[in-house]
Amino acid sequence: MVILTASDIRGMIRHFGLEHFINRATAALKQDFSRWDSFSLSPRHATHFPQGVIELMPCSGNEFYTFKYVNGHPGNVLNDKLSVAAIGQISDAGSGYPLMLCDMTLLTAIRTAATSVLAASYLARSDAKSLAIIGTGAQAEFQTIAFAGNYALEKIFYFDIDSSAMIKYARNLASLSLELIPCSSIAEAVHGADIVSTATAAKHRQTLFGLQDIAPGTHINAIGGDCPGKTELPAELLSQVKLVVEYTPQSLIEGEIQQGDAGMIHAELAELVCGTKIGRHNDREITLFDSVGFALEDFTILRIVFELADEFKLGTEIAMLPEVDNPKDLFGFLAS
Ligand SMILES: NC(=O)c1ccc[n+]([C@@H]2O[C@H](COP(=O)([O-])OP(=O)(O)OC[C@H]3O[C@@H](n4cnc5c(N)ncnc54)[C@H](O)[C@@H]3O)[C@@H](O)[C@H]2O)c1
Repeated sequence: MVILTASDIRGMIRHFGLEHFINRATAALKQDFSRWDSFSLSPRHATHFPQGVIELMPCSGNEFYTFKYVNGHPGNVLNDKLSVAAIGQISDAGSGYPLMLCDMTLLTAIRTAATSVLAASYLARSDAKSLAIIGTGAQAEFQTIAFAGNYALEKIFYFDIDSSAMIKYARNLASLSLELIPCSSIAEAVHGADIVSTATAAKHRQTLFGLQDIAPGTHINAIGGDCPGKTELPAELLSQVKLVVEYTPQSLIEGEIQQGDAGMIHAELAELVCGTKIGRHNDREITLFDSVGFALEDFTILRIVFELADEFKLGTEIAMLPEVDNPKDLFGFLAS
């Protein structure tokens, strides 16, 4: 079994370049979402604490079984810890044997950004020139680089209630040939933006903006509301937009749509990818990708990383499981 730490994953991403890696993930996600019916899917298992949530996210195809362990603790940053940290495993479905265990903290940011641009490819206007980022924490740069790699963006408006997070964001993205425009309010940031990506972390219901704050034709990519009682948008907005989710049974519990009902959902992302439903219909409608993060996205990124680790012999091979000559003699292993 191979182990890949966060620094192994970092090395892999640096080797290919972040934009390339995100694009590779987007293409692989498109492949996997297009064979949606071939997977065994279920809502994630969430355990809630006053401070946050810990989730287990299983997914299985014919060849591989994967799961991710991930937390969401918005207050962690006050103790110098990430809000979202994750590890994941990929196993051989045929034998049930684990193949790889790896850090998935960077990979979660990457697969989320890749899923965002995959959804946007059906929902955003292809001529989008501006992006607003609300919440400039850990996910923000990944979101920005993903959208900048797929749209001819000229301006990025951004806002966070924490000014030091805004400074960090601008510093990290200084080398992009884009105009980065710090804003003093959410309303200022989203006004006139073609795509709005919300990535705030707060363990309660927020109303970041309403329909009156955005222009016709805007695409909203809402990733921050991903838990019961944790939302970013007003309930009344949901019935006035074209709303797309990842997996309805999970989204009804965790997404913005927890404030509404299944009848407000236009499509699941897989239906757009498979062409059974149409995404954006015209240049004026407002679209919403109500993302909570789904196990198939982790399956896809684990599959890519496993294939790369295998091809380039990355990570550390360890004998995690008992190595026995006679599989019926586990006792003999104890005695050896
Ligand atoms: N949908 C998905 O697949 C997915 C994947 C990863 C993370 N997430 C969620 O995305 C959110 C962001 O994750 P992160 O890792 O960047 O967290 P983070 O804690 O690093 O950053 C969140 C930022 O939001 C800011 N913020 C909070 N309330 C705000 C408000 N009202 N207006 C503006 N800014 C505000 C905070 O100051 C912070 O800088 C979390 O809620 C996380 O659970 C979703």
